[in-house]
Amino acid sequence: MTNEYVELSEIKVSVQQVKNCAFSQWYSKFAGHTPQAKVIKPVPGGFLEYLEQDGIKLPNDSQFGKSSYYAEIGNNEDNEYSDWEASSDEEHPQGQDVVQLFPELHKELKDIFREMGSLTPKLTWSSPKDATWILANNTLKCTEVNDMYLLLKASNYITHDLDRALAECFDKNSALEQDGPLQHELVLRKWFDLNPALEFRVFVKDSAIIGVSQRDLNYYDYLELLTETFKDLLDEFVEDIVLPRFPDSSFVCDVYIPRPFEKVWLIDFNPFARKTDSLLFSWNELATIDPYKLESDYELRLVQENNVARFASKEHSENQVPKEVADAITNPKAIQELAEKWGELLNMQKAGDSSDDEPGEQNNSL
Ligand SMILES: Nc1ncnc2c1ncn2[C@@H]1O[C@H](COP(=O)(O)OP(=O)(O)OP(=O)(O)O)[C@@H](O)[C@H]1O
Ligand SMILES: [Mg+2]
Repeated sequence: MTNEYVELSEIKVSVQQVKNCAFSQWYSKFAGHTPQAKVIKPVPGGFLEYLEQDGIKLPNDSQFGKSSYYAEIGNNEDNEYSDWEASSDEEHPQGQDVVQLFPELHKELKDIFREMGSLTPKLTWSSPKDATWILANNTLKCTEVNDMYLLLKASNYITHDLDRALAECFDKNSALEQDGPLQHELVLRKWFDLNPALEFRVFVKDSAIIGVSQRDLNYYDYLELLTETFKDLLDEFVEDIVLPRFPDSSFVCDVYIPRPFEKVWLIDFNPFARKTDSLLFSWNELATIDPYKLESDYELRLVQENNVARFASKEHSENQVPKEVADAITNPKAIQELAEKWGELLNMQKAGDSSDDEPGEQNNSL
């Protein structure tokens, strides 16, 4: 009997391999090869509690200086809300400011912003890439501490870091017993404007590059001609800089190669595991490539003009909203219809719920 399906190849990952990818574990070894950053470790418990709370509340910041989120707004024709004063009092009642959960960290963060200028945050392994929609600039660039709180709170990836970072590890129970719970770290990287076309993900297995993927899944016509230049730079970078400094022989690293294509910048390390996005490869493909047979002839895979549509919707697809919701945002009538349908569904659900369920707490304050 022949097999009509391909078996999923097992890719084992240990707690130590995941821990090696935490920012503080590798950052200091790559000075001069990675953008400047500050690491706050351990993250105070009050801040982790704040990140895990439902809803988004920002610190009422008056005692720490000005924030654009609390700039004085004069009452004029454009913002003549009848409940203007009442609502601002309700949202920030005296004595309930969230900054009470982490006053020292809040002050330290403000000092770091003053010193470093614009920056982008990361919690241990993950950046809030899925939440850029919440900032006016639609990027990860934070110019003040409240931008950073908004991004971290709105991100599902950050909550993942807190809850399930080691879920895939085969030895998680014994490692947790031995080392105790994880210590989280907050990373603040100095912002620089980078061209997403020139970011790459490098898959390294048994100390050899087995594949490189474009990281931003759009088609850029000029990349194809540069393939050999990128491969030469990456071979040298991985051989001379990364392998001697990184403790594992299998990992996935993210790099940036800006013009004039003379230097490679290290952006991040990720475990060689299915939880790391394999981008233009599949994990089965990567698991079955034999680095010894490859003899350095790995593929640098790019989005092609004729397959751009295939990948256009892949990024953050787990966080995308139904088309009806997206359409409704620009169409008041559709919003009304959607709200009515939503109300009907909720009523149906309530009718179906058993009476001894806990009442859900809702907190939509922003
Ligand atoms: N210092 C920086 N300045 C500007 N942009 C940055 C900086 N560092 C990272 N970025 C951008 O943020 C993106 C995400 O960063 P990073 O790879 O560290 O996040 P991540 O959460 O580990 O991502 P993944 O889940 O794909 O591994 C990068 O692709 C890059 O575009
Ligand atoms: Mg990463």
